[in-house]
Amino acid sequence: MCGIVGYAGRNQAASILVDSLKRLEYRGYDSAGISLFNGELATHKTVGKIADLEAIIPDDLDACIGIGHTRWATHGKPETRNSHPHVSGNVSVVHNGIIENYMMLKEELIEKGYEFKSDTDTEVIAHLLHQKMYASDKSIDLLTSMRETIECLEGSYAIAALCTDESEKIIFARKDSPLVIGVGEDGNYAASDVTALLKYTKDILYINDNETGTVSPDEIRVFGQDGNLIKKDIETVEWDIEAAEKAGYDHFMLKEIHEQPTSIQNTFAGKLLELEGNIKLDELYLSKEQIKYLRRATIIACGTSWNAGILGKYLFEKLAGIHTDIETASEFRYGNPVLCGEELTIAITQSGETADTLAAVRSSMSYGCKTIAITNVVGSTIARECDSVLYTRAGPEIGVAATKTFTAQLITLYMLAIHLGRSRNFISPDDAKKLIIGLKKLPGQVQKILNRKETIKECADIFADRRDYFFIGRYLNYPVALESALKLKEISYIHAEGYAAGELKHGPLALLTKDTPVVAIATKGHTYDKILSNIKEVKARDATVIAVADEDDTEIEKYADVVLRIPSSHELIAPVLSSVTLQLLAYYTALARDCSIDKPRNLAKSVTVE
Ligand code: F6R
Repeated sequence: MCGIVGYAGRNQAASILVDSLKRLEYRGYDSAGISLFNGELATHKTVGKIADLEAIIPDDLDACIGIGHTRWATHGKPETRNSHPHVSGNVSVVHNGIIENYMMLKEELIEKGYEFKSDTDTEVIAHLLHQKMYASDKSIDLLTSMRETIECLEGSYAIAALCTDESEKIIFARKDSPLVIGVGEDGNYAASDVTALLKYTKDILYINDNETGTVSPDEIRVFGQDGNLIKKDIETVEWDIEAAEKAGYDHFMLKEIHEQPTSIQNTFAGKLLELEGNIKLDELYLSKEQIKYLRRATIIACGTSWNAGILGKYLFEKLAGIHTDIETASEFRYGNPVLCGEELTIAITQSGETADTLAAVRSSMSYGCKTIAITNVVGSTIARECDSVLYTRAGPEIGVAATKTFTAQLITLYMLAIHLGRSRNFISPDDAKKLIIGLKKLPGQVQKILNRKETIKECADIFADRRDYFFIGRYLNYPVALESALKLKEISYIHAEGYAAGELKHGPLALLTKDTPVVAIATKGHTYDKILSNIKEVKARDATVIAVADEDDTEIEKYADVVLRIPSSHELIAPVLSSVTLQLLAYYTALARDCSIDKPRNLAKSVTVE
């Protein structure tokens, strides 16, 4: 997730762009840049925050039109050369989104003589715009070039572009990434969201997918996919800046839960080869031979990432036939691991900076193990130190409780397990295809859960005053139980335990009373009958059962007191849907208890100390 801005007007563009970018820093903050037109193209960019950018912009830069960008790296490390804008000759571009087919486009452009200066996917857009305007036999304007360029792009984008030959306007395009246009008195604006513009205007045009257009000081033109001019109504927003950063949600956590249809899509963008029944993981530096002869994998992580790792263990064993251990990093680093050089260590860490995880991975490196990092932060310490990195591409997460980064870790683990399983011929292309189809359905299914969130809120409100909560699940639903208990305890301060459902009878049943809600994750699959038996054990102790169940399950109501439905899905993929449901249960419980949801007491987003 990145933020883009543009301004065409009668005031100094640099200060407006910098100020607007500061408001978008919550969308990403590892590097930034601007391009302005002051007779020629003046581009300034740097690694760091917007304040670092501000420091390098000359005071005497006299320009009234420009574009800007704050970056959250997805392709290429946070380095100045990877920062936006990307320039091709006299064309400059900023982009938010992911271009899935950029490798193929890059090869074609290199053959045509274009030289790439960055590792980003965005640079292909700059060269394509330039190539279509200047290097082909016909002469076209920037808007036509933009239309032809986006025809070549697969993926998501909000783009703003400048060209010195059409220096009075900014050209924009949008598909699957947000873009708004601000209507001002002294000029007009473009931005990833209204937050960036509130200081200058509250009059907004919302750009839809497949629309393109131009922003000039006195005119805004929006065109549909068919090239026809569209008349858009101006909408006046009433938000203050803080509400706007949260896109109108009360908390970042709720916003981030709602971003999951998009973040999940971004995690697998360009990687699912449905027809071949395979996963494209070019970032994995493991040879076919190494994968074939892998004897053991060890997953190392902490907290939520560790819970994701348990699912990873089950998936690697089921789909790739690789014996997998899951280790808590803080324990592993002081244990006596028995490892050898032909083994694989997988570190899962959202931040890429967790001290215990880093230390544990370094210890496994000392045995000669190959290492893979699964992280959300490009250029983080773990990403720099491991042999391969799989980025989860969930965008920055501000709420301390991990939500969208957890589901992004799960999606990455599915993809890695399928990839390893196919490389070892452990699963058939058909079985892989079924999983890939299941993954592709997830964004729509998560959206369905979000649309029904009121039912989850009602359930949360009923039990919000309880002292203890239990979450139980079997097999793949066991890590969901652990993660859901962690989510509830960290933000609502209710004591919550996640348990393997079969373990209840070995002790914890003693704790159940009629006042204990027990959430049973009871999705269809080969342990379904077993969890029904566990629910009966719970009911026999008079506790209340809240079941998470498939929408086509007609049995479950006979067993549970409350049923939270999820769309029916592939058995192995249902944990993603149950997790989103229970993130909402935790959120609404904390809300009912008036807790500090985005910043729970005693916790930090990145735990860089032991
Ligand atoms: C819980 C949570 C923490 C982190 C843990 C590891 O919501 O966010 O439990 O998962 O501190 O952090 P990372 O994944 O950055 O290594």
